[in-house]
Amino acid sequence: MPREKSFEEHYQDNDTPWEINRPDHNLVDFVTRTGLPPGPTIDLGCGTGNNSIWLAAQGFTVTGCDLSELAITRAREKARLTGEGCVFLPVDFLQSLPTGAPFALAFDRGCFHTIEAEADRRRFAARVAEILAPGGQWLSLVGNLDQKREEGGKGPPQLSASQVLTAVEPSFELISLRRGYLDSNLAAPHLCWVCQWRRR
Ligand SMILES: C[S@@+](CC[C@H](N)C(=O)[O-])C[C@H]1O[C@@H](n2cnc3c(N)ncnc32)[C@H](O)[C@@H]1O
Repeated sequence: MPREKSFEEHYQDNDTPWEINRPDHNLVDFVTRTGLPPGPTIDLGCGTGNNSIWLAAQGFTVTGCDLSELAITRAREKARLTGEGCVFLPVDFLQSLPTGAPFALAFDRGCFHTIEAEADRRRFAARVAEILAPGGQWLSLVGNLDQKREEGGKGPPQLSASQVLTAVEPSFELISLRRGYLDSNLAAPHLCWVCQWRRR
């Protein structure tokens, strides 16, 4: 059986279907609707930095981290071109914690859901809590298992609501969990969970 490509290889091959070159509308909606005051923010699995750079433009002090060195190089270049002062760090979040904590806000678009083992998802969530200030929030966009897909069909990893809750609730209080769509350039966008959490 062919092995799965690493994220680094996805970026090397420009095989990055999640890349939309703009902030995800779920993040824009969250920031606009909640009126959250800009503060120190971590973008987990930031990819090439679209969401980090948009947050920085709104006044947030943003650190983006990603395990792909190439994604981080591209994110730094995008930030340089836009003039936004984000910090981008090559960090595997399951192995080490990014500098700059405590953060008031954590965001991830499609990073948490790539963690396959339940124990690792639980550990990921505990680590997000560890770098957040008391009462800090986490907005997480997670592929939704309720969207049926043909065997071998393409799309993001998918989790059920109970899989998300099992991993995250020990460390976070649920503010809201609702169905939404990952922002996309595709004709048929992918169903997701829009999860808003508060650190316990
Ligand atoms: C689906 S991509 C989304 C990228 C970006 N958030 C976006 O919206 O364009 C998932 C990203 O998470 C990163 N990632 C996966 N596991 C990670 C980990 N343990 N630590 C840091 N980054 C990780 C990958 O390298 C990849 O860039």
